[in-house]
Amino acid sequence: MSRKKIEIFDTTLRDGEQVPGCKLNKENKIILSEQLDLLGVDVIEAGFPVSSPGDFESVEAVAKTVKNAVVCGLTRANKKDIEVAAQALLHAKRPRIHTGIGTSDSHILHKFRSTPEAILERAVDAVKYAKSFVDDVEFYAEDAGRTSNEYLARVCEAVIKAGATVLNIPDTTGYCLSDEYGAKIKYLAENVKGIENVTLSVHCHNDLGLATANAIAGAINGARQIECTINGIGERAGNTSLEEVVMIMKQHPRLELYSDINTKMLNETSKMVQDKMGMFVQANKAIVGENAFAHSSGIHQDGIIKNRETYEIIDPNDVGVNQSSIILTARSGRAALAYRVKNIGYELTKDQLDMSYPVFLEYADAQREVVDNDLHQIMNKCSILQTATA
Ligand code: KIV
Ligand code: ZN
Repeated sequence: MSRKKIEIFDTTLRDGEQVPGCKLNKENKIILSEQLDLLGVDVIEAGFPVSSPGDFESVEAVAKTVKNAVVCGLTRANKKDIEVAAQALLHAKRPRIHTGIGTSDSHILHKFRSTPEAILERAVDAVKYAKSFVDDVEFYAEDAGRTSNEYLARVCEAVIKAGATVLNIPDTTGYCLSDEYGAKIKYLAENVKGIENVTLSVHCHNDLGLATANAIAGAINGARQIECTINGIGERAGNTSLEEVVMIMKQHPRLELYSDINTKMLNETSKMVQDKMGMFVQANKAIVGENAFAHSSGIHQDGIIKNRETYEIIDPNDVGVNQSSIILTARSGRAALAYRVKNIGYELTKDQLDMSYPVFLEYADAQREVVDNDLHQIMNKCSILQTATA
């Protein structure tokens, strides 16, 4: 089996930006789109142009700015949305219109008060109309996660005939289990006529904490594009996190999947998105959280100091973090204390370590974390002099 490239479709600027409080102005969308382009994403979903004049202008500006990636605009399945998106994407080097409609019973009956046949017709019309503006048309079957596989396959086949180039199968509500979602992608890959001529795409939400696992299950079962956001931001509990799927593919060669992402830029890109959107990730967030490479218990610290791989499966340099950090708390051992004071210029003998460790524990019991400034004080109290300047 040969390695398969997975296209990374970044929707930080669209699905990510739908989060309350994460609204981006045009300048920030331009800055982030440049960063995403440098990061190596294949597609940037820049926004939903019909939603507001501001978003139209932002998508237009991103379309003019981006040099390498495909620039995509979201639409519903109606002419006005599609015309406005086509207009916003006019200057893109590689424009894509992303159009679609809800296909689950719930969407058909309650949202559209319609029938499966009528929805199928609207899907086909939308793709044909989008195709009259651009070659690259992605179709999304909203709530595909709760759509029957048989009906979904009929819709997919019809929109392929109408000219769709990419089929997006969103688990819009984050409901699917990973085996179920993987099986859905496999079913489509095996049962839709013409599927070999288009790209199957996965778009997963995180309502049950399964967005990353489901996206990977989709890729294992035939999807060749993953839709995701930096830091996993997005509607409600968020989307598949870009940094997580990219690092899963990198750390697990047996999957034989890869992306073109420059992983060394993940940390700075995450920080940039946090800063521009004012939405900060939790300390224990995989890959980009403050504690992702921090070790605080004595047993772990001892292991890490002896050999990083004892407790780390990712080299922090691979994601743009300078080094693992050894955090000093009351759970830290002598090895960690010796390591940290060495970093600031104190090479301790065994006796000096024995003498300073109880003093360190007094500090550690009194506060959450012992920092470099405290270490200087501890050394001073124990009359230990710096052997080298840090
Ligand atoms: O979650 C979803 O279904 C979406 C579509 C609009 C692609 O974001
Ligand atoms: Zn979504």
